[in-house]
Amino acid sequence: MRTITTDRLLLRPWQEDDAGFLLDLESRWEVVRFLGAHPTPMRTREEALASIRRRRALDHPVHGIWVIATADGAPVGNLLLKPIRLSAGEPSGGPDEVEIGWHLHPDAWGHGYATEAAQAVLHDAFGRGLARVLAVTDPGNHASQAVCRRLGLTALGRTTRYYDTVNELFEGSPRMVAG
Ligand SMILES: CC(C)(COP(=O)(O)OP(=O)(O)OC[C@H]1O[C@@H](n2cnc3c(N)ncnc32)[C@H](O)[C@@H]1OP(=O)(O)O)[C@@H](O)C(=O)NCCC(=O)NCCS
Repeated sequence: MRTITTDRLLLRPWQEDDAGFLLDLESRWEVVRFLGAHPTPMRTREEALASIRRRRALDHPVHGIWVIATADGAPVGNLLLKPIRLSAGEPSGGPDEVEIGWHLHPDAWGHGYATEAAQAVLHDAFGRGLARVLAVTDPGNHASQAVCRRLGLTALGRTTRYYDTVNELFEGSPRMVAG
């Protein structure tokens, strides 16, 4: 998977060496509390390693799951672009239901890193032919909704179509990064 750089950040593939960071990130309730119908903090290094192997198996010319690292190489979070999971019983909408998502370590909140990383991934993905992107957030996740607004995504209101729960849905297109 390719790496993507921004002014302050390096987005690179997850590696097994990142297991300690991933466990530190996803074992925190404040990081996972808004994720899905039944948020579950990660508990073991083995779970982190298995998750990293699944992330590395996503081999796609446009989609990806990246470590967000600062210029000194220190990991600060996760950025994903992948097909979104539908709620049980929802009919497939085809290949245009791709989501972007972000999870930052609390020590790295408040610096604009999630927005900067997502902007770079969207610029790269739209340049490679992505036609549409979705983002979903728990209705109570105001920090993540603020990221969506900073990115220029359009708010489409609430939906139960994804992740077996109620979400605020946002949508973006290549026009966002035109010019
Ligand atoms: C959602 C989440 C990534 C948002 O993180 P964040 O740091 O607030 O978002 P950004 O990276 O866009 O940073 C924006 C903040 O950085 C500040 N900032 C500081 N320097 C900045 C800069 N150079 N550029 C832009 N913003 C900057 C902004 O003022 C803003 O802070 P404010 O909201 O207090 O005004 C974070 O809360 C998180 O990881 N939550 C847990 C996981 C999660 O819920 N993920 C989303 C699931 S849908």
